Amino acid sequence: MPLERLISARQLTIPVLHEIFQTARKMRTICQEKGRTNLLADKMIGLVFLEPSSRTLLSFQSAAQRLGAGIVFIQGVGSTSFEKGESLSDAIKVVSGYCDLIVARLPKSGDAQIASDASCVPFINAGDGGNEHPTQSLVDTFTIIEELGTLSNLQYAFGFDPLQSRSIHSLCLVLSQFENIGFDFISPPELMAPRWLVEQCTERSVRVSQSTSLAELKNPDVIYLNRLQEERFPDRSLFEKYRYEYRLTPEEIPASCRLILDPLPRVDEIALSVDELPIAGYFRQAQNGVYLRMALLAMLLGRDIA
Ligand code: NCD
Repeated sequence: MPLERLISARQLTIPVLHEIFQTARKMRTICQEKGRTNLLADKMIGLVFLEPSSRTLLSFQSAAQRLGAGIVFIQGVGSTSFEKGESLSDAIKVVSGYCDLIVARLPKSGDAQIASDASCVPFINAGDGGNEHPTQSLVDTFTIIEELGTLSNLQYAFGFDPLQSRSIHSLCLVLSQFENIGFDFISPPELMAPRWLVEQCTERSVRVSQSTSLAELKNPDVIYLNRLQEERFPDRSLFEKYRYEYRLTPEEIPASCRLILDPLPRVDEIALSVDELPIAGYFRQAQNGVYLRMALLAMLLGRDIA
């Protein structure tokens, strides 16, 4: 399997997805039965996280250590040579001499490609600004298939910041390959899905609609929510204007809905009372992150498990 660098969800074709899912199921069994394996005991993983992260960072750390790998890491720019003005390319080139694979979360859209080009070892984009988050789309699609048995023939709703949510961008890119699906983007008028995403999905025959209110939801099977991306608003007053207006409560969930996902952190977008519902899948989704990232690390390093 030739995937050596994961920059964009566009690389996640259906055969690649199925291969990763199969390995992730084996990783889940390893975690449940033995806790760890020594598949990557001779490998060192470099984690370069220049933007805040809890789930992605910890699940990659957990994944690497459950596979027996060592870790070197940079967290935040404060304690590093970036403070002294070092370029991203130089820093990544150096880190790639210290490890066998780099996972990086970077603040600017497009930084993942620059970093991957500089890296001498396999590279994984763990989020580049408001652009993409391909490993999250693996976690999301795995969760949907494990809970609903399919990714095709489903109506998906996405809210509430499709303009700036990299998780929504990557998930839509992956899902758009599947048959007979519809996307309904729900957001304030200023935060509608970017044109490039809508065009790509429409070209691939996804039925796309956009609404400004939860009341207009089109019988979704899956509701995928992500917080308004506070740190990416050029105008803070816009964030303040909508932060409490877009929130899912149990009363607003249509009867058609079978699964509610959120890459987390949850801020205001889902009322706490939704957590009690069996269709609230976001904490199970977060746990799947470890199995998926174990599978991805093994695959990019060319290691198979029996
Ligand atoms: C997402 C991210 O970083 O884009 N979080 C995550 O990785 N689980 C979503 C977010 O921050 O809103």
